[in-house]
Amino acid sequence: MRTTTTFVIAALAAPLALAQTTSSKRGLCYVNSTYSNTDDPIWDGGGSDLTWYYNYGYTPTSGIDGTKLQYIPMLWGPPPSNTDMTFYNNVKSLIASGTQIKYVLGFNEPDGCISGGSCMDAQTAAETWIREIEPLKKEHGILLGAPAVTGSPTGFTWLQNFFTACAGNCSADFIPVHWYGNFEGLASHVGQVNGTYPNMTMWITEYALAEGSLADSQTFYNQSANWFDSLSYVTHYSYFGAFRSDVSNVGPNAAMLTQKGQLTDIGAWYLGQKATGNTPKGGAAQVAKFAGWAAVVLAAMMWVMT
Ligand SMILES: *[C@@H]1O[C@H](CO)[C@@H](O)[C@H](O)[C@H]1NC(C)=O
Ligand SMILES: *[C@@H]1O[C@H](CO)[C@@H](O)[C@H](O)[C@H]1NC(C)=O
Ligand SMILES: *[C@@H]1O[C@H](CO)[C@@H](O)[C@H](O)[C@H]1NC(C)=O
Ligand SMILES: *[C@@H]1O[C@H](CO)[C@@H](O)[C@H](O)[C@H]1NC(C)=O
Ligand SMILES: *[C@@H]1O[C@H](CO)[C@@H](O)[C@H](O)[C@H]1NC(C)=O
Repeated sequence: MRTTTTFVIAALAAPLALAQTTSSKRGLCYVNSTYSNTDDPIWDGGGSDLTWYYNYGYTPTSGIDGTKLQYIPMLWGPPPSNTDMTFYNNVKSLIASGTQIKYVLGFNEPDGCISGGSCMDAQTAAETWIREIEPLKKEHGILLGAPAVTGSPTGFTWLQNFFTACAGNCSADFIPVHWYGNFEGLASHVGQVNGTYPNMTMWITEYALAEGSLADSQTFYNQSANWFDSLSYVTHYSYFGAFRSDVSNVGPNAAMLTQKGQLTDIGAWYLGQKATGNTPKGGAAQVAKFAGWAAVVLAAMMWVMT
């Protein structure tokens, strides 16, 4: 925990850039929505600096130009059987049909068993990894992202159990990180991950200040983006996520798009553009629509507050 404190102080001392910044580390955390057709061009169009995306699955999103945003397949959760090879076969066919696959991502929040997590035991995850993920590295030189655990303490325990079950046969190249909470918590968490896995670079694949005020959300966004850009061991980051403010399950003020599908200030900054002044508004049915994807928010927030 002592190293953690050092990280927080170093992070807070980092100066805030005053002009909008661009960064080749930025990617898109893609979630399906009823407005995909209208909103997709925002992310892969000329005004966007994003370089990569993932969509929690292994089929590229038809509305996103894969030559602009490199597709990163994910094996989301437990396969239907212990001989299943669907993910492996799909990635092989993508490669065979000419799609460049440089990275794949392991399981999504396997330690999370309430909405959103893939709720997978470490033993099954290790067996699945060795069968379907590890060969992709040997056969195609694909770099492998460790399972993306939640930002709560159960995440560290799960990941440790996973590597133990792997018995040296899961050669993860980088470690994905999720965080919902304030910047101090994020900095401390990232420091703790680096302290625990000092041999791996990091991707921050889901993060936001959940349910904050608009001002706090913008300050959080700026601080974290500037910090990730300055950290050599963070090679990729994707702010959560590709959806409008009225269906956001992390609160309307964190969103990159307004309820009408216009870029908010945060959305514009993330793409490397100037602030738009568009104010996001909430909607009635926020949680229901997205419950699939970021849901360990509450657990993560409670952990921050304790
Ligand atoms: C965030 O950064 C942008 C430019 O990157 C700047 O214009 C804006 O004032 C900053 N906002 C906050 C709240 O820090
Ligand atoms: C998103 O939509 C695509 C295309 O309709 C579908 O193949 C995919 O399974 C959906 N993903 C999720 C996570 O619902
Ligand atoms: C790991 O690999 C070694 C060498 O191939 C093998 O003997 C061992 O059974 C493997 N362990 C697991 C858990 O797959
Ligand atoms: C880092 O360490 C983990 C856990 O010991 C190991 O499984 C993984 O292969 C290592 N990664 C690299 C890139 O050396
Ligand atoms: C983790 O942090 C330490 C200290 O900043 C750094 O030296 C190390 O390179 C980091 N790990 C990786 C994989 O970059």
